[in-house]
Amino acid sequence: MGRLAVVLTLVLVLLSPFAGAYRVPERGVVYQIMVDRFYDGNPGNNDRFYDSGHRNYRLYWGGDIEGITEKLDYLGSLGVSMVWLTPLNDNINKMAHGSAPYHGYWTRDYKRIEEHFGDWNDFRKLVEEARKRGICVIVDYVPNHAGPATDGEFGALYDNGTKVTDYYEDTRNASVNPTTGIREAVYHHNGNIFRWEGIQLKYANLYGLADFNQLNPWVDSYLTEGARLFVGNGACGLRIDAVKHMELGWLETFYLRLYSERPLFIYGEYYSLSTEGTKDLHELYRYSNVSPVLNMPIREDIVRTFGFVGSFETLARELEVYYSRFLYPNKELNFLDSHDLVRFLNAAKRDDSVERFHMALALTMTLPGIPVIYYGDESYLVSPDGKGDPYNRPMMVFNNTTEAAGIIRTLAGLRKTNDALAFGDFRTLYANYSVWAFERTFGTHRLLVVMNKGSPSNLTLGLDWPDGVYRDALYGAEMAVGNGKATVFLPRNSLYVFHLERPQDEPLIGSLTPYAAQAGQEVLIGGAGFGNAGRVFIGGKEAEVLSWNSTEILIRVPKVETSAAWVNVTVETGGKRSAPAKLRYYSGNDVPALIALEAGNLTGELWIVGNISELAEPRPLLKSSTGYYFTVAPLPNRTAFSVRLYRGSAWEKLEPLNVTLYGVGGRTVVLTRKPPETPAPEPTTTIVHRPIGTNPAPYIALAALLLAVAAVMFRRRAVS
Ligand code: NOJ
Ligand code: CA
Ligand code: CA
Repeated sequence: MGRLAVVLTLVLVLLSPFAGAYRVPERGVVYQIMVDRFYDGNPGNNDRFYDSGHRNYRLYWGGDIEGITEKLDYLGSLGVSMVWLTPLNDNINKMAHGSAPYHGYWTRDYKRIEEHFGDWNDFRKLVEEARKRGICVIVDYVPNHAGPATDGEFGALYDNGTKVTDYYEDTRNASVNPTTGIREAVYHHNGNIFRWEGIQLKYANLYGLADFNQLNPWVDSYLTEGARLFVGNGACGLRIDAVKHMELGWLETFYLRLYSERPLFIYGEYYSLSTEGTKDLHELYRYSNVSPVLNMPIREDIVRTFGFVGSFETLARELEVYYSRFLYPNKELNFLDSHDLVRFLNAAKRDDSVERFHMALALTMTLPGIPVIYYGDESYLVSPDGKGDPYNRPMMVFNNTTEAAGIIRTLAGLRKTNDALAFGDFRTLYANYSVWAFERTFGTHRLLVVMNKGSPSNLTLGLDWPDGVYRDALYGAEMAVGNGKATVFLPRNSLYVFHLERPQDEPLIGSLTPYAAQAGQEVLIGGAGFGNAGRVFIGGKEAEVLSWNSTEILIRVPKVETSAAWVNVTVETGGKRSAPAKLRYYSGNDVPALIALEAGNLTGELWIVGNISELAEPRPLLKSSTGYYFTVAPLPNRTAFSVRLYRGSAWEKLEPLNVTLYGVGGRTVVLTRKPPETPAPEPTTTIVHRPIGTNPAPYIALAALLLAVAAVMFRRRAVS
């Protein structure tokens, strides 16, 4: 390419409205900001429920969008590439349960921005300024619930300023759905969740918050339009709140609509604090096959092992099992601190807490998955007043010169150049109570993380790296490798990161963004060894290539004839073909469907598996109080399908019941024992509304009627 062409391409990339959004998330680091507690860029919007002294943790403290824009250079100095902002939508204008909605999770209007935080212009400016610094903006979005149902504004809901309903008004419109037994209108009206499983988990109020009925077509499109506003104004992704409390089938349709705009990085919060093989954990993995989740289940054990007691050997085993169950372990998100859990430094009570914090921070940045840094972790932010929510949300202290900031900056940099850190596998080479070594590999790139929390020790390991002396990225410690053996000295409370990069001359797929798709959608393929050009095949069909470089390919998904859940994606370049990566495929034209079957004398835990991509993975059914089993799934509209019934529990092999049931895609589908006589055909002609006078149909009908009347009268007269 000539110099002019290079310059022009660069200019085009920089000017493109979503440049930066098409970056591979695995190469980056997310920085989580609680907007109200970060930086006050505009004291003019602080009015109401505001505490200028920052003493009352339940009031607004002044942080806003303009404040984040002002601090973008600071964020850039940490090397982060994505900022996740707590919800920006307009929240209730009242106190509820003794708190102002400074946190952003009590929305009243999904089309507007909270006035304490700014407006759409401020948001666009933030996106634009962030993009100039290679940072993109991810917004927390809350489609599970609006504000508190029984306090504050009582679930009042607005559509760009116009009131739609509130929880009490909505009660009057609510009725019991005959197939699910759920009382619903705009909201669900089934009390609060007190049994944390089954129907309640998704159809009752989470901590008294007005729970949306996402299957109500108005709610469905309102929540989609609200999310589209963020996407349309330049967000590169969304963090979806409380996904555990919504039907995955609705979320799948919601995500597909958003993905049809462009490749977005959407991830969910599935609240589950343990790696025990519960139904909950099974559901988390099921979610993760569609969309990434935050790695909550491992967080407590990491904090315990570094901040209190616990063996690295146990942790290593547990993490290996945990990650091995994901199809996309590298797309899930690791975090040490968050706005919902006690900050590590507020929890750990040890003389060496800060050293252990450094180790745990570096670990969460080197495990499989995308790291999330909670604001203030780089400056050792803690609360002197308390521990958990709301005390884990103190006002930000800016300091990017600390050891923690150095760890973040260095490992954020290494993710961009070391493919093993971004996309590699995960294998423990050695572990005992206080020493742990794990290796990650991707093609020719390697990463070795070694750590010691006990007495100083000399570690010798079998390591298949070229002979030489390697330097740790964080502190410059040395490791000698010779004849397949590595030796490194580990002082007490040390963690070192060794890395090896060699040319990648085979095409290797490390990442698909997003990994769920339908025909026509753009998907970004991240990896290595792609060369300058080549071809991409999806489910055996060639995909249109929109852009190509050695590490990123942007393609459009072709239509694939399949009834499988997953299709293979392969890259061909220079006569070589990559190993396949899996894409979760949807047939397209999907609607969120309530699928029900009469329970009859069926009992136990039932699942369905169907003959279309959308239903190819087993889906558990819920049992209603009105004699049905049901679930929600995306279904191609007006398309006939069949399902087979299975019985069994999560984690177990499902037992086929040898029953096949039939349906046709639509918003509510009651399955039948017999195939539909004639599957509802797609309308072949478009009915156009023409003003009366130009449409001949009524006149033809009228003429026919008059002719018939005349014929009858003529006959009568002739007879008489
Ligand atoms: C999870 C959020 O992270 C938490 O802060 C919030 O209060 C609940 N969801 C309810 O929205
Ligand atoms: Ca302010
Ligand atoms: Ca819900």
